[in-house]
Amino acid sequence: MLSVRDLTVSYGHVQAVQNLSFHVDEGQTVTLLGANGAGKSSVIRAICGLERAARGNIFLDDRPIAGLRPEQRVRLGIATVPEGRELFSSLTVEENLLVGAYLRRDRHAIRSDIDWIYSLFTSLRVKRRARAGTLSGGQGQMLAIGRALMALPRLLLMDEPSHGLAPLLVEEIFDLIPRLQAERSLALLLVEQNANKALSAASYGYVLETGVLALEGPSADLVRDPQIRALYLGG
Ligand SMILES: Nc1ncnc2c1ncn2[C@@H]1O[C@H](COP(=O)(O)OP(=O)(O)OP(=O)(O)O)[C@@H](O)[C@H]1O
Ligand SMILES: [Mg+2]
Repeated sequence: MLSVRDLTVSYGHVQAVQNLSFHVDEGQTVTLLGANGAGKSSVIRAICGLERAARGNIFLDDRPIAGLRPEQRVRLGIATVPEGRELFSSLTVEENLLVGAYLRRDRHAIRSDIDWIYSLFTSLRVKRRARAGTLSGGQGQMLAIGRALMALPRLLLMDEPSHGLAPLLVEEIFDLIPRLQAERSLALLLVEQNANKALSAASYGYVLETGVLALEGPSADLVRDPQIRALYLGG
């Protein structure tokens, strides 16, 4: 479904990502692991269109999308939960969800999808009229996920959804993944520093080291890999 080929992302002279190739199949969860500054967010931003590919291409169902504007990519079914959430803090919870649906015109379905989001995250329903800026970290992350889901993606890009959250909330976020796959047959590209969690959620993983693909394989193999254990799984 998503195929990234020889992607290079540069900031001036700095090549943040170099010749990276990987793919995500229909309905599959894939994780992209790597330390601080490895280039994970640059990959996410290149796929959703916030960063330009200096070289290489990105295909969605064999259609090249690297030249498309971000909203055109949303229309094709790519939604993003960005690093740091980037909520509209002065808008309410429900207004943030509506922002996620800004390209849609199906009012009744939008309403029922908002209810679906509230059924996934019951604490958001209670806070529906609260400004997003008043939410806790966990609620903010749920809202960022809910907002992305409101675009009805086929492919969801999540950039460190567990970052800064207490263990119970991390559980809650990760428990959502099988549910999304069952209810919406979503494909998921999950960027994480929490390699343990990410590898248990994903079927396949790629490891980036300073912008270069260092290792890839089925999650079951990566969790047993001594190098991965030493670097990302605490030995
Ligand atoms: N806007 C920018 N301008 C210049 N350099 C940047 C910019 N964004 C990222 N970089 C550099 O590109 C490299 C990759 O950054 P990126 O944010 O993609 O990494 P990351 O793996 O997401 O890191 P983190 O785990 O800290 O989020 C880093 O060296 C970073 O300093
Ligand atoms: Mg990042």
